[in-house]
Amino acid sequence: MFVKWCSIVLLCACVDSLKLKQVIMLSRHSIRTPLVLNLEDYSEKKWPVWEGESGYLTKKGRQLERFMGRYVSEWMMNENLFQNKCPDEDEVHVYSNTKQRTIETAEAFVDGAFEDCVTVHYNRDTTKMDPIFNSIVRNDTQEFKDLVISEMQKKLDAISLPRPYRELDRILELKNSSVCRKENVCSLFKVKHDIVLNLNEEPDVSGPLKIANFIVDAFLMAYYDGKPIHEVAWGEVTLLTEWDTLLSAVRAYHDVRFKTKHLSRDLVNPLLEHMRDIFLTGDKKFYLLVGHDANINALTSAMNFMDYTLHDQAEKTPISGKLVFQKWYDEHKDRELLRVYYLYPSLQQIRDGVQLTLDNPPQWALLEMENCKLDVLGLCPWEDFVKILKAL
Ligand SMILES: *[C@@H]1O[C@H](CO)[C@@H](O)[C@H](O)[C@H]1NC(C)=O
Ligand SMILES: *[C@@H]1O[C@H](CO)[C@@H](O)[C@H](O)[C@H]1NC(C)=O
Repeated sequence: MFVKWCSIVLLCACVDSLKLKQVIMLSRHSIRTPLVLNLEDYSEKKWPVWEGESGYLTKKGRQLERFMGRYVSEWMMNENLFQNKCPDEDEVHVYSNTKQRTIETAEAFVDGAFEDCVTVHYNRDTTKMDPIFNSIVRNDTQEFKDLVISEMQKKLDAISLPRPYRELDRILELKNSSVCRKENVCSLFKVKHDIVLNLNEEPDVSGPLKIANFIVDAFLMAYYDGKPIHEVAWGEVTLLTEWDTLLSAVRAYHDVRFKTKHLSRDLVNPLLEHMRDIFLTGDKKFYLLVGHDANINALTSAMNFMDYTLHDQAEKTPISGKLVFQKWYDEHKDRELLRVYYLYPSLQQIRDGVQLTLDNPPQWALLEMENCKLDVLGLCPWEDFVKILKAL
């Protein structure tokens, strides 16, 4: 609640001497089809049918991202960063991972924000992940592996999620599923976690958190994409509080995989190098990087962002959401300042597919980094941020 109230005040606080100089965004892709195909094994009930390949951006995902793009350009014009919707190529840089869903998200954003004036860049070899967005283990020492496993285990030990597990057992009728008959997975309470940490792979945790993650993700994408409510988790999940209960398992799954101290730093290294270059020397007014929730999780962990909650959302890294680094110039004091927000559509805005405008904006939640203390306007000195970047 504080964040909501606070961000409204901050957005309206028209401090005359502050000018927006630069915006750097790290975005997650928009709505996609579910990632895992063997959902049928987890429930005998009829699952919704999806058009297109697994993990691809949906039509509604494209529309949502066009709305986000259009809103962001309206906001930047309102702050006088741009004079019109068609900036020069050398004022903007948009860079995407090689996945269909990220490229299409970047294209849709650009379409909404800048019409056809801006090109989306990405690595031409789309058969593999761009290293910048690839959250894989790179440190090959045993010391590192031992350290990381103990950090992940500590997080796992602290997790207790009876409510989402109980709800999922019930909603899926897991006792009556093929995984119960064939693999004895009859209740999420009875499955063990295993940490999977291999060189050049994403870190993972098998077991109930992983199962809960991909089931709830499939429910949520169906809800976001506008499937009839009786097809979304068979009509069992509609309220934000119910989503919040189920998504507590999703948040925990990502937290264990991507948000431990030493591991996040290793996973995010190429992205951090890339972004550090932009922060320190980038001369364009607007940068957009389009990747994945793993990138946002690992980056916020490696940069020591304080824990945050996002009002009107149950995801920690919402679909279409963006970390927004804003560089401001204070004319009176002749100094540069940083403000960081999470900009994202609410659960309801996504479900309703509403147009986002300055009058009906997506959500802004103020974020804070350790060692970059915020003033009453939510700003911290850019020079403190530079110190943090150099020390990372
Ligand atoms: C690998 O991890 C160990 C243990 O944390 C650390 O001392 C070492 O510097 C790391 N190596 C690289 C290349 O990051
Ligand atoms: C189990 O699934 C079958 C359909 O495969 C259904 O007819 C039956 O009612 C289900 N039983 C329970 C207890 O859910």
